[in-house]
Amino acid sequence: MSTTQKANDLQKNIREGWQDSSIAEKYARAETATHPYANIIIDKASIASNITNHNSTVNALDFGCGTGIVTAVLYEAVPKEKWNNVEVLGGDISPHMLDYLRGRGAKNGWTGLTTQIVDGANIQLENNQFTHIFANAIIFFLPLGTLQKLVDLLQPGGFIGITTWVSFGWYTYLERAINNMSNPPSLPTSSEIRDSFEKGNAWHDPAFVKQQLEETGLQDVELVVEKRNVECGTPAQFCESMTMPMSLISGHWEESKRQETLKEVMSELKKVLIEVAGGEEEMCYMQMEGIVGVGWKSAKKA
Ligand SMILES: C[S@@+](CC[C@H](N)C(=O)[O-])C[C@H]1O[C@@H](n2cnc3c(N)ncnc32)[C@H](O)[C@@H]1O
Repeated sequence: MSTTQKANDLQKNIREGWQDSSIAEKYARAETATHPYANIIIDKASIASNITNHNSTVNALDFGCGTGIVTAVLYEAVPKEKWNNVEVLGGDISPHMLDYLRGRGAKNGWTGLTTQIVDGANIQLENNQFTHIFANAIIFFLPLGTLQKLVDLLQPGGFIGITTWVSFGWYTYLERAINNMSNPPSLPTSSEIRDSFEKGNAWHDPAFVKQQLEETGLQDVELVVEKRNVECGTPAQFCESMTMPMSLISGHWEESKRQETLKEVMSELKKVLIEVAGGEEEMCYMQMEGIVGVGWKSAKKA
């Protein structure tokens, strides 16, 4: 198989992974990894102080919203009596994520929340409409032009915040699990996995993230690079949240044995996690390192 064919297959695996009907339940756990970075984005957007002090209104897009952690952090930041000032569109390619977010919104009384299927590779939303766009842990899956398209969707003076990963904390556990196997399948290096996610773009490099933001014409571009030790649930829950990365990694294995190999690797991974956590009911942790990049669109109309 050619390298391009392999890369295309892996990208296909990623896209299909998000369409799995149980993805939202599984992903909800992994939110602990993206939550700290959602906090940074919402803090940098100064939404709460602007609403409180200037009674401003928010018309936000939570792009690649997943189970909605950025929307949740946004609503938590705004005093409840000002929730009417907030409108959020949760956009994602996965209908299961959107179902989950709608349920979360209904439970919490986020009446300004609507959801819509949005494919970052083919965005059909109208330009100049959002005051804020959040793209937490999503932009690196997408073609380079997506960032410019998102900026186009912003009103003049609007804010955008994106998060990318420097490294994935789960890799060392997986490597250990595979090394423990008597007949181990191949494991791509962490940079190969990162390249598959990023399609060869250097989203893991702060200088690249800054350059990409500035090239769209954004102003006051600022970066925060932060390591966080995040809780990822019990060993069984951790394994469940690995569905997406494993759909990518298992794409490297021989198709006829893929499901069987995956089962063996996951069983070994669970053993490693039980050992590290100190028991089946104990919590697992992993270190994530993320880059949050924010910027503001010029207040002048183009
Ligand atoms: C790693 S999750 C991040 C979710 C959420 N933003 C968070 O902070 O937890 C990536 C999300 O992007 C969505 N996604 C993947 N490809 C997409 C695309 N082409 N267009 C829109 N959303 C996409 C997935 O369905 C998933 O919900």
